[in-house]
Amino acid sequence: MARHVLILAAGQGTRMRSGRPKVLHRLAGLSLIEHVLRAASVLTPDSTGVVVGPVADQVHAGLADHTGLAFVLQPEQLGTGHALLQAEPLFRDRRGALVVLSGDVPLIRPETLRRLVETHERKGAAVTVLTARMARPYGYGRIVRKNGRLRRIVEERDASEAQRQLNEINSGIYALDLTPLFDALREIPAAGAINEIYLPGLVTIYRRRGLGVETVEVEDPDEVRGINSQTELAEVKQIVRQRKNEELMAAGVTIEDPATTYVDTDVTVGPDTVIHPSVILEGRTTIGARCELHSGVRIVDSTLGDDVLINNHCVIQGATIAQDARIGPFAHLRPETVIGKAARIGTFVETKKTSLGDGSKANHLTYLGDATIGSEVNVGAGTITCNYDGGQKYPTTIGDRVFIGSGTELIAPVTLGDDAYVAAGSCITNDVPAGALGVARSRQVNKEDWVSRRKKSQDTAHSNA
Ligand code: UD1
Ligand code: CA
Repeated sequence: MARHVLILAAGQGTRMRSGRPKVLHRLAGLSLIEHVLRAASVLTPDSTGVVVGPVADQVHAGLADHTGLAFVLQPEQLGTGHALLQAEPLFRDRRGALVVLSGDVPLIRPETLRRLVETHERKGAAVTVLTARMARPYGYGRIVRKNGRLRRIVEERDASEAQRQLNEINSGIYALDLTPLFDALREIPAAGAINEIYLPGLVTIYRRRGLGVETVEVEDPDEVRGINSQTELAEVKQIVRQRKNEELMAAGVTIEDPATTYVDTDVTVGPDTVIHPSVILEGRTTIGARCELHSGVRIVDSTLGDDVLINNHCVIQGATIAQDARIGPFAHLRPETVIGKAARIGTFVETKKTSLGDGSKANHLTYLGDATIGSEVNVGAGTITCNYDGGQKYPTTIGDRVFIGSGTELIAPVTLGDDAYVAAGSCITNDVPAGALGVARSRQVNKEDWVSRRKKSQDTAHSNA
């Protein structure tokens, strides 16, 4: 049977008190609506629609990576039922099940959606409502049953004192038969001060008509948590974090302190990697096996091979680090950094658009930008590639087995051939050929007895005064 998906995302999200559309708030590296889209993709829907409101352009831009979405504009936010009506042109000629999801209910599991739609289809229902039992049902629509069957859904603000005590809630996720849907939506009476059309009103209409009204209850009520405020967003973040950490630990990762370990949804970590307290792994990051990530490390969109050690307080963005490398403490690897096997980056070293070959070392106080560095190179303390003249960037090319003495400035563009040496304290402005020693510093002059001569002249000046 055909299946379709519609995500309601036109609400203003006023309770977030934010300039950003609610469904674009971030949760573990993805926007809220991206979490929903991912879960829904398990249904392999024939079509997927998203209802958007006044901030349509922003939502559009936020979903630029997702192809095959049909955007439906709801110009005025007149309620969830009204939102669904706007999608009529999209689904009018379709048949089968329409699964309606909320853009602000991001933790829904794919298996739950599958169970919802399978039950719906098996029972031939007109509507199947996903419900949950919540210890604190405040704010949600309540499920009112009679003789065990769903009779109607009452919104918090319309609920009587007795109804508020009900702890079974409407998740805002439904499976709907498309055939009777749009005519029935038009029969829902407008409610509230601004004449909203509430989608849950469908239940009452179908009951009256004797059409099938069913429910499916989620096992884990956290799955259907709605996000209406910053506090609720933070609570959901904590749940997602815990889920991810548990998934990693189940796969053999050691997490010293799950409470302070923040790992985004798409991050992968190999077994026997040890994550110390206060580590943040973001975006599209892949960590190999047996790595060690010390406290205060933040890694974004980067790839680490096996057996890599990252010492405390490193920031690593858009970098690729091969196996057995050691980084930090206090290093900053910026985008397009490539670190070779068993290479080392030490304390207070910054790299950008730079590759450091296998077994090479830059251990102290160094800036390497736009540099291509061979293998087994030793970059001395305080070496700086001067790659920028205020207008343009220039490359530095360093061969294999080069030794660069401490305190060297490399004025790019410049090339050091294989096996070359650079004397400490040099300011290198010209290429150094392979095997040569480049020395570029002024000669030292020692003035014998200078100190006692100066003292004498000072004393004389004093006594004359
Ligand atoms: C809704 C349900 C409530 C349920 C809860 C679950 C209604 C009337 N109430 O309440 O029974 O317990 O979800 O989280 O449906 N939206 C639009 N256009 C609109 C209004 C809303 O697209 O005109 C979208 C919102 O962006 C959001 C979703 O629909 O993604 C739900 O709207 P929201 O205002 O958050 O409804 P709740 O008050 O949470
Ligand atoms: Ca909501």
